[in-house]
Amino acid sequence: MINIAIIGAGRIGHVHARALGARDDVTLTLVCDPFEQNARALAEKYHVKYCLDPDEVFDDATVDAVVIGSPTQFHVDHILKAVNSGKRVMCEKPIALDLESAKRCIDELGDRADHVMMGFNRRFDPTFSALKDRLDDGEIGDLQQLTVVSRDPAAPPASYIAGSGGIFKDMTIHDFDMVRNFLGDIAEVNAVGTNVSPEIAEQGDFDQVIVTLKSRDGKLATIINSRTCAFGYDQRIEAFGADGMLSADNLTATAVRKATSTQTEAKTAVMDFFLERYEDAYRIELDAFLDSITIGGAVCPSVRDGYQALVLAEAAARSAKEHRAVTV
Ligand SMILES: NC(=O)c1ccc[n+]([C@@H]2O[C@H](COP(=O)([O-])OP(=O)(O)OC[C@H]3O[C@@H](n4cnc5c(N)ncnc54)[C@H](O)[C@@H]3O)[C@@H](O)[C@H]2O)c1
Repeated sequence: MINIAIIGAGRIGHVHARALGARDDVTLTLVCDPFEQNARALAEKYHVKYCLDPDEVFDDATVDAVVIGSPTQFHVDHILKAVNSGKRVMCEKPIALDLESAKRCIDELGDRADHVMMGFNRRFDPTFSALKDRLDDGEIGDLQQLTVVSRDPAAPPASYIAGSGGIFKDMTIHDFDMVRNFLGDIAEVNAVGTNVSPEIAEQGDFDQVIVTLKSRDGKLATIINSRTCAFGYDQRIEAFGADGMLSADNLTATAVRKATSTQTEAKTAVMDFFLERYEDAYRIELDAFLDSITIGGAVCPSVRDGYQALVLAEAAARSAKEHRAVTV
């Protein structure tokens, strides 16, 4: 039995706690959050203990593995303390708010970095991974262009934006990881950003961005992000290849369509947000992490992938600020 602790009992802490329930060789034993009402709410839901100080998790010899869902500014500290106390770790994205901290983390971990998993859940989404498998099988020949669309239904609260590191590190980071997963190493980044939300503009962040990337072997990618979307959580991918195209549209709760005198092919609304749209992905992601503990071997994506995605996020932020292409 693998004993798990969750650090950070917020939105993503709840998602991971729910996903843990799918395995019978795993027990959630401890929840940690300095805000007692958050710690208690998650702990009571799953009938487990809670604590307010992360050091209690690291000092607890009965905890085998830690899922880190604390705010990004604490990730490096929590990763290092957990690994140094002998625990296996899965940490939410992004690895850190700045490259220096991320590099310190990777350097201090050394070989152990290959065993610390990064929470890039979209790699595990069954629809996106089926698309990637078919691309890898050569169904559309060589990939030439990738388009990733990711729009949130509504922006997070101002307090979350303030500690998020900005849209490129907080939101686009998922898409940078997807592009790296499809295209390999990136050579060049071009980004533009704008605002439809005055509140986000006041915080010095963008709420709409478009990023174009060129891989080392000349393939192109476009990422389109918005913090708001009138029709819900817009998550699509299109891979354009020499012999055709593979695309993955938004998912709806059922496949039922309606035709009337005013509409044809009408589906129900797209899945609400990350909790619903990526429920399977979070479960499969956690499975991969837990399998790395029971079966052994390196994890993928690891914190090294987290570092590389952050390199692209910083390049995009510089590109948008300086209005120029940035070579990576
Ligand atoms: N992979 C995904 O799809 C996904 C989705 C959402 C958030 N995230 C990431 O998860 C992290 C948390 O985001 P969230 O949306 O759950 O935020 P949240 O604000 O809902 O939750 C964060 C929780 O951490 C707690 N916390 C604050 N300081 C802490 C500390 N020092 N130690 C431990 N816990 C602390 C807060 O009380 C809160 O309960 C962020 O890094 C975010 O980027 C990932």
